[in-house]
Amino acid sequence: MSIKGEILLQVMSNDGRQTTTKNYTPREIDVTALLSSGYANILVEHTQGSMAIRITKKQEALVHFETTPNDQNLEHDRAKARLLDSADPFLRAVGISDSAGNIKPSRQDKYRQVEEFLRVLAPSLSGAIEAGHIEKPSESKPLSIVDLGCGHAYLTFAAHQYLTSKAIPVRIVGVDVREESRLRNSAIAKELGIIKTMEFRAEEIKSSTIDHVDVAIALHACDTATDDAIAWAVRNSAKLLLIAPCCHHDLQSQIKQSPEPWGLLTKHGLMKERLADLLTDALRAHILKIIGYRTDVIEFVGGEHTPRNMMIRAVKTSAKPDQFDIDTYHQMLAQWKIKPILAELLEDEINASTQS
Ligand SMILES: C[S@@+](CC[C@H](N)C(=O)[O-])C[C@H]1O[C@@H](n2cnc3c(N)ncnc32)[C@H](O)[C@@H]1O
Repeated sequence: MSIKGEILLQVMSNDGRQTTTKNYTPREIDVTALLSSGYANILVEHTQGSMAIRITKKQEALVHFETTPNDQNLEHDRAKARLLDSADPFLRAVGISDSAGNIKPSRQDKYRQVEEFLRVLAPSLSGAIEAGHIEKPSESKPLSIVDLGCGHAYLTFAAHQYLTSKAIPVRIVGVDVREESRLRNSAIAKELGIIKTMEFRAEEIKSSTIDHVDVAIALHACDTATDDAIAWAVRNSAKLLLIAPCCHHDLQSQIKQSPEPWGLLTKHGLMKERLADLLTDALRAHILKIIGYRTDVIEFVGGEHTPRNMMIRAVKTSAKPDQFDIDTYHQMLAQWKIKPILAELLEDEINASTQS
């Protein structure tokens, strides 16, 4: 970047909640300090390519080099590079762009949600491949992805087109209980000429007939359909889960009496609702952790684009849970006198993991 004629290096950092941008002169920047500052994922982009570094729990650095040249962009406050070209025919076909290739005002939020979702998918996927959790996709063994509760399949198509544009062989299935979604989405896939690598099924998530996937994604699968999605993904050996939950009702109705002093929060309906939402997602993430997934919870898109902007990201490592995590789980359920749907759905897996 160039400010007042001086070329500076731009450092963007994200702590899972927000992104901070700082500019340094080449003399000011302390690369060693940056590398050891506690970030798990570091991406260095330069004109000859990029270098992705992932620091593991054991403090080992996994380094991946890419040699695709990048254009040098010296603009101050440069806009985030778009991952999806608004004129891409698929955006027109799914109804996000108009015939002139502009994003429709009424679809701006969905476009941003989908694009930011991909911004998380891309590095999570390369990290999982790099670490050996997902086999490197090939033409004979493409990456398999399922989008659970796909609706109009904006994300399903976007993921397919984006990964294909990056030369990643992929096969994606969209699942939604509604037959009209299947018909509409299949017709669009046919129109785009991608039916060999995309398929839609009209099924309940919990009884989906797909038998195994590498990656499971779900964007706003209603209420406990999110739990069905997580449970289905776990049972079908998904190695990477990116789940952005929707509305929550399960725990709200279960919480009758709060362990004190938490009654302070639950006596106000609005706060009780928000607390139940947090408890639901915290327990979803925790259950995944105790059954062997490395899990984090991130804000994948700004709150101005959807209030449902939290994402649970989980990578299967098969690590055994520690006793503290197991105890915390049981105490949480006992103190609040609750049993989330996910705990019912994954009871066998939780027991196997916590009793062995
Ligand atoms: C809020 S929409 C989100 C659609 C899409 N993922 C998006 O973000 O645009 C939720 C979708 O999940 C589907 N759905 C809800 N419960 C489901 C279930 N148990 N099995 C399959 N699909 C379900 C609905 O039919 C609906 O299309």
